[in-house]
Amino acid sequence: MNNYPNVFVFDHPLIKHKVSILRDKNTGMKQFRELIEEITTVMTYESMRDVELEPVEVETPLEKTVQWRVPEESIAIVPILRAGLGMVNGVHKVFPTARVGHIGMYRDEETLEPHEYYCKLPDGIQDKTVFLVDPMLATGGSACDALAALKKRGVKHIKFMAIIAAPSGIEAVANAHSDVPVYISTVDRCLNENGYILPGLGDAGDRLFGTK
Ligand code: PRP
Ligand code: URA
Repeated sequence: MNNYPNVFVFDHPLIKHKVSILRDKNTGMKQFRELIEEITTVMTYESMRDVELEPVEVETPLEKTVQWRVPEESIAIVPILRAGLGMVNGVHKVFPTARVGHIGMYRDEETLEPHEYYCKLPDGIQDKTVFLVDPMLATGGSACDALAALKKRGVKHIKFMAIIAAPSGIEAVANAHSDVPVYISTVDRCLNENGYILPGLGDAGDRLFGTK
């Protein structure tokens, strides 16, 4: 359940199926990476219902017709490092020409406060629809700061996608950035004392990149 008009929680059987495999501690790095990508592709389809199209003339074998397409260059992807990197290919499956910016954030393990350590964005990002992606929304600190960083640099149209979210993270982002549509595949129960989502899937970055 969620009470925020800008937050959309998917209730899709295919996503539920894939997220349950993702959570399993016995799912290895390769399958974990593939699942993150597949879930992101489904989420991207679902989250772009309001994307603006432009008319394009197409000649079929029978006649000329005016059809619709997503303007090239209108989409960008910004993963929150590290774990957001795992979602980039999933969006690229839908928008193969989307440029990619990067925002580096890490959570202090003691305070859970986010720290920005890197930001490099494509030229002209101000005029694009930006998919900001991170598989995990826990306290919401990283997402709130990444959204503020994009807005500070003039980005006007942002969609934030996270695969697993805790209620506290949703609340933080929905309140601080009520203008940003937030797409979540699964809402979990709560955070533990170390700021990990329960039941969650553990540390997304470590599982994606095999660091632990
Ligand atoms: C994880 C995750 C999010 C953040 C979520 O990253 O990928 O960015 O935590 O937590 P929050 O909502 O409480 O801010 P982490 O800081 O562990 O960095 P990493 O991806 O480099 O491992
Ligand atoms: N970051 C993760 O990778 N996992 C969590 O459960 C919370 C934050």
